[in-house]
Amino acid sequence: MLQATDPTYQSLLTHAKKAQQLAKASYSNFSVGAALLDNQGKIWSGCNVESSSYGLSCCAERVALFKALSEGADIFTHILIIADTEEPTPPCGACRQLLQDYASSIEVHLHSGVSGKHEGYLLQELYPHPFDDGKLNGGGK
Ligand code: THU
Repeated sequence: MLQATDPTYQSLLTHAKKAQQLAKASYSNFSVGAALLDNQGKIWSGCNVESSSYGLSCCAERVALFKALSEGADIFTHILIIADTEEPTPPCGACRQLLQDYASSIEVHLHSGVSGKHEGYLLQELYPHPFDDGKLNGGGK
């Protein structure tokens, strides 16, 4: 598990903070930044992007993942999520599902922008009984 003292963690934190500054969060006033590390060492960042039709809004984690996937990255090792809550903010269910689909072994690091508290999890700890493609193609019925 990546430690907060590790330069890679600090680099993810820097990228996530920059992304958080760009959040389009005028409806919720809840700005989130995410930084996703791929297996080539590249960091893909994202912020939440909200819509006046609220349900169309997209979380920072999925913005980062979609940016990365759409540009050809396909293996991811770590994601760091920052929000300004006293306790670190975990990813929503939809983001856990997308991470499961594209990065099932990823480490998920949560960082509070106000207290500096941080927690690290394996995705499988956050999403222990996932739906995934193994359930399609005959696993259903
Ligand atoms: N949000 C994220 O971007 N990531 C999370 O992990 C939790 C929630 C966003 C969605 C919405 O724009 C705002 O935060 C409030 O829910």
